[in-house]
Amino acid sequence: MSLPQPVPQTVLGLETSCDETAAAVVRRTVDGQVEVLSSVVASQIAQHAPFGGVVPEIAARAHVESIDLVAHRALAEAGLGYGDLSGVAATAGPGLVGGVMVGLSFGKAVALARGLPLVAVNHLEGHAVSARLAADLPYPFLLLLVSGGHCQLLVVNGVGACRRLGSTIDDAAGEAFDKIAKTLGLPYPGGPALEQLAEGGDPARFPLPRALLGRKDCAFSFSGLKTAAARMAEGLSTQAERRDLAASAQAAIARQLAERSDRAMALYAREQEGRNLRFVVAGGVAANAIVRQRLMEIAAERGFSFTAPPLRYCTDNAAMIALAGAERLALGLTDGLDAPARPRWPLDEAAALANPTHVPGRKGAKA
Ligand code: KG4
Ligand code: ZN
Repeated sequence: MSLPQPVPQTVLGLETSCDETAAAVVRRTVDGQVEVLSSVVASQIAQHAPFGGVVPEIAARAHVESIDLVAHRALAEAGLGYGDLSGVAATAGPGLVGGVMVGLSFGKAVALARGLPLVAVNHLEGHAVSARLAADLPYPFLLLLVSGGHCQLLVVNGVGACRRLGSTIDDAAGEAFDKIAKTLGLPYPGGPALEQLAEGGDPARFPLPRALLGRKDCAFSFSGLKTAAARMAEGLSTQAERRDLAASAQAAIARQLAERSDRAMALYAREQEGRNLRFVVAGGVAANAIVRQRLMEIAAERGFSFTAPPLRYCTDNAAMIALAGAERLALGLTDGLDAPARPRWPLDEAAALANPTHVPGRKGAKA
């Protein structure tokens, strides 16, 4: 009996978990080479901006209105049709469930109509593999995943094989950026606007609290810093002061990310006995130049290589979902058409259940 031969995977990825409707086509060769054939992102920023943040109902509706156009454009830009695909990968969570259902249902419809395998992808796993879209980055590696909804350190051994070392006990780093930006009167999304305002500012002018100083683990906390910055913002009158507070807040967030990553690197290096010292940062906050700079310095000090995805793959996109799908497909990991949309879906379920950093609640651990 002959074993099934490995074949190249050409996967349509769909991403609708927050405020971007995205579709992409990614090809993965038998020897693991990755080619992004197209990556289309339709941002909903303009629809949410008047409300100062993402409105779930508006998001879900906007996804419904654009998902088929975005998917068709991704195929057209790749020069392919549905018949050329080996599979469909859609984000199945975590995220805003109304939006997740739109992309997942669309993916199921394509899979059913074309007889293609479906892969229900964890959005966080997409971020975890995102650096592999543009760099030759083998497993395993240590990952700092920093986005609007998540802030965690993970050992990534491959798809379906991530282990959490630590996570935030309150806000995510992106959330802290967004909320501080709001108190400074900046438009949504706050992270990039705050980075722009901070340019040329004095990062030492406003001292901000350092969280969880006595602890030796890899947990994060941003709520104290966020509240302190908000209080300081209230008393400011000049643009120079606002610029300095933005620079101070950005530096404080970057410092905490660097401190915890340093701890995780020490831990990981011991576990790995000095081998595979690769550090990766991914997620929307990885787009921040100061954050990248601090992490790069720490990695160099610890003897780790440093990889960050290009900016277009830091924030939400479907190329990362397609790649996670292709890697899963190559391992035979597919899902049934009854795969549920999961608003909460920790990447490392064992760690999340054993040590919930959010109060688990009725619906289980969030992240
Ligand atoms: O990964 P992402 O697009 O969506 C989630 O999965 O959450 O991340 C969005 C987050 C937002 O909080 C946004 O403000 C933040 O990433 N972000 C930034 C920058 N660009 C995006 N934060 C700081 N500096 C930036 N340049
Ligand atoms: Zn994301």
